[in-house]
Amino acid sequence: MVKAVVLGAAGGIGQPLSLLLKNSPLVDELALYDVVNAPGVAADLSHISTKAKVTGFLPADDGLEKTLTGADIVVIPAGIPRKPGMTRDDLFKINAGIVHDLVEGVAKFCPKAFVLVISNPVNSTVPIAAEVLKRHNVFDPKKLFGVTSLDVVRASTFVATVAGKADPSQITVPVVGGHSGETIVPLLSQATPAFSPKNDEERDALIKRIQFGGDEVVQAKQGTGSATLSMAYAGFKFAEALLKAAAGEKGIVEPTFVYLPGVEGGAEVQKAVGGLDFFAVPVELGPEGAAKATNPIGSISEHEKKLLEACISGLKGNIQKGVEFKKEAS
Ligand code: NAI
Repeated sequence: MVKAVVLGAAGGIGQPLSLLLKNSPLVDELALYDVVNAPGVAADLSHISTKAKVTGFLPADDGLEKTLTGADIVVIPAGIPRKPGMTRDDLFKINAGIVHDLVEGVAKFCPKAFVLVISNPVNSTVPIAAEVLKRHNVFDPKKLFGVTSLDVVRASTFVATVAGKADPSQITVPVVGGHSGETIVPLLSQATPAFSPKNDEERDALIKRIQFGGDEVVQAKQGTGSATLSMAYAGFKFAEALLKAAAGEKGIVEPTFVYLPGVEGGAEVQKAVGGLDFFAVPVELGPEGAAKATNPIGSISEHEKKLLEACISGLKGNIQKGVEFKKEAS
């Protein structure tokens, strides 16, 4: 029996993500939590004729405890999204505290669950989550993931457009690093099938679009939010991969932002990325979560090495900010 939880389930990402989880044959129980409207979203989804039993809770009456107890997988898209002109880092002040409190709940009520952090800035909220779990002595690095799948989904789509391929899902581009601007490093040199941009201009435009694709959505939505539907798709894709791996399916590899020292193969990646503790790389998933981090960095192009340098310097500060975050009055 698999119990999945969405924290922030009434939001722009939370609702379609909950719909996809409700539609999944891998989920038996779906518990939704938000500071508003979670019971309404749950009532709505509960009429869908798939097997997952749906419940919804607000903070009152131990709602977080009821939501999390017995959970196997917890997906966190709670928090505020960007408005035009904002960077993901601008969200830190509010979202840091939200993620902190929700992960405290995970530590108390379902310490063995997989935790998937979507709330931005992922580069800092995942280190916050790790610190909270450490403080409660329940940190298992194999079970904590920053969800960077949207960058990978965008890379497939944008490369397919440039390469004139009809089906983007047949193109895989590893995207490593973090999840904001220059910390997002698409490794075009390792696309499958192989892809070579026509010239440096095409390469640079493509990389910029993958790194800043989120801004296109923020601008198009004119102040009403950031990517929600594509994010729900990407977040579900990652959750589904993890659930399949947990059920014993072999050979599943997904890029995700993990704590390198705690994952097999992570030490080798760390050497290639200036000793950073957190970094997104393709990770082989298994029954325990992150089974093995693969190191794609040995074989990258000279241009990608430069992108990696910019990523490392940006990411270092983001991670530090998360590690040092202390919630006021906690
Ligand atoms: P939204 O504002 O539509 O939804 C957020 C939901 O979180 C709201 O329903 C709100 O009530 C809820 N919430 C706020 N505080 C809460 C708390 N303490 N406990 C439980 N729920 C709480 O925002 P949206 O568009 O769904 O985005 C959510 C987050 O995901 C943002 O931080 C956004 O930046 C991030 N995001 C991450 C992406 C990624 O690739 N990792 C991509 C797109 C967005």
